[in-house]
Amino acid sequence: MTLRLGDTAPDFKAETTEGPISFHDYISDSWAILFSHPKDFTPVCTTELGLAAQMKPEFDARNVKLIALSVDSIEDHKGWALDIAEVQGCALNFPIISDADKSISEKYGMIHPNENETLTVRTVFVVGPDKQIKLMITYPMATGRNFDEILRVIDSLQLTAEHKVATPAGWKEGEDVIVIPSISDDEAKQMFSEGFRAEKPYLRFVQDPRNKKAQAA
Ligand code: BEZ
Repeated sequence: MTLRLGDTAPDFKAETTEGPISFHDYISDSWAILFSHPKDFTPVCTTELGLAAQMKPEFDARNVKLIALSVDSIEDHKGWALDIAEVQGCALNFPIISDADKSISEKYGMIHPNENETLTVRTVFVVGPDKQIKLMITYPMATGRNFDEILRVIDSLQLTAEHKVATPAGWKEGEDVIVIPSISDDEAKQMFSEGFRAEKPYLRFVQDPRNKKAQAA
């Protein structure tokens, strides 16, 4: 099955380093990041899991739960977690799924046979509280993920879910955002009291609405 943005993230039951879970129950009313790793006791994955653990406060602040996956066993995950804590200076603080029968990897298209026949590549799925897939990124085996970029997209996803705006290239939280094209100028004037800056009729910038709220508080 090919998953696409807006699809419901397939639900599954799994064994994890923190006990059995049901994915949709695990997400509950949070956002979630499900990310796969080729193999335990490998160098790039070690740095990725350590960095994700260090950044957990950033994910918590955005109501995002992390959950990792590889096809190795829970025993291997637990042994590897000790190495990650030692090398990266931060203990794992989110579960890792053991997908030994590859059933989850197959549902999510995490195995790309022309890259590797048996191991998962580095996929990232961001799932919303509505359980829909909001973002999919696939990295090759030899390239570690950029978690700052994933956080940046989550900021955009959460902002654009709440306000009728889109975020420009390279946008970071607090910077000006774009009024979506389906909003007329008259509607935009009502919606954004400080007005908008039109560089073209279709390219209208406003202050980040959450920034404005923070200033008013
Ligand atoms: C790694 O995580 O370091 C890795 C895993 C599989 C292939 C290449 C690198």
